[in-house]
Amino acid sequence: MSNQTGVIVFASQKGGSGKTTLSGHVAVEAERAGDGPVALIDTDPQGSLAKWWNARESKAPAFAQVPIQDLEEGIAHLKRNGFRLIVIDTPPAVTESISYVVAHSDLVVVPTRPSPHDLRAVGPTVDIVESFGKSLVFVVNSATARARITGETAVALSQHGVVAPVTLHNRVEFAASMIDGRTVSEIRSDSKSAQEVSTLWSYLRERVARIVAAGAVAEADRADFTASVLSPARASDASDEDDFDEIEFPDELGLPINPAMTPRQAPAPAPLPSAAQTHSPAQAVAPQAPAAPRNGHASGWDGVDRRKIDRGPPRGAPERRRAGFGRRGLN
Ligand SMILES: Nc1ncnc2c1ncn2[C@@H]1O[C@H](COP(=O)(O)OP(=O)(O)OP(=O)(O)O)[C@@H](O)[C@H]1O
Ligand SMILES: [Mg+2]
Repeated sequence: MSNQTGVIVFASQKGGSGKTTLSGHVAVEAERAGDGPVALIDTDPQGSLAKWWNARESKAPAFAQVPIQDLEEGIAHLKRNGFRLIVIDTPPAVTESISYVVAHSDLVVVPTRPSPHDLRAVGPTVDIVESFGKSLVFVVNSATARARITGETAVALSQHGVVAPVTLHNRVEFAASMIDGRTVSEIRSDSKSAQEVSTLWSYLRERVARIVAAGAVAEADRADFTASVLSPARASDASDEDDFDEIEFPDELGLPINPAMTPRQAPAPAPLPSAAQTHSPAQAVAPQAPAAPRNGHASGWDGVDRRKIDRGPPRGAPERRRAGFGRRGLN
């Protein structure tokens, strides 16, 4: 990979499709291939990835405890500290918090088991990814060798996005490896499962490197455009910030004004762990659920959407599903 940092998110509304298993495996495989350092972020309140990481002996990949409301700052911090790949696991849900994570990704990987239930559940995840203009890759996971439904699943998925050219098969070592914090490659590097994971990482690595490189070019173009279109500021120009200074904050309500809350001195976000700190096992504890005010639920909601009924795409996103895929009842 280049020296730029790639952010891969594993997302799927369907529980048990392999998000956590693949997050851990891809992160370890990237380290083994020399594409690290890699940092893991677990945004699932279940904390399965954090628990797996806590069971690990090896300190790589690192685990960064980043509350979802600090995700942007957390990713920036990890990039500044030299992490080349950030792998984010998400809960089985379609929520604003998933949208928020997807918005901060370079590539979204959607593990899908070859089953009609998994296929039906794919639509809302595809919607979120498309609404943010992000790249998506399906990975057929837990497939039965030579079963016709495996090929049919790949064909069905390919109507709606790119399907990784490697299938992960259902093997007990994938499940076993998650128990003691290892991966199939760390248990037996010459196994078929290890080969599949290695091929998967080679493919994802290529994809994410291309996306990140294209993003860097676009960023440079934007900077040039701004420079050529906007006229330079003059000393006599009053800045917005100057105007802002003149605003008075009345205390008519009789409330004490906290001097620390003036516009210039908004509280800094809590410091995130440095790269060195993120390698410490003590840092890996179950991540916090999203902050209540961000998703509009004042209390008692853990950020996971367990709804059974279809309420349409995320707020503000257009309906993009096609009939017969993902959800029923679209005309
Ligand atoms: N290829 C595979 N072969 C065998 N077992 C697998 C495979 N992939 C995942 N599993 C097992 O399936 C179960 C669910 O996997 P995992 O926890 O990774 O899914 P998930 O999408 O993260 O689930 P959730 O939505 O609940 O977070 C686990 O017990 C895992 O070990
Ligand atoms: Mg999981």
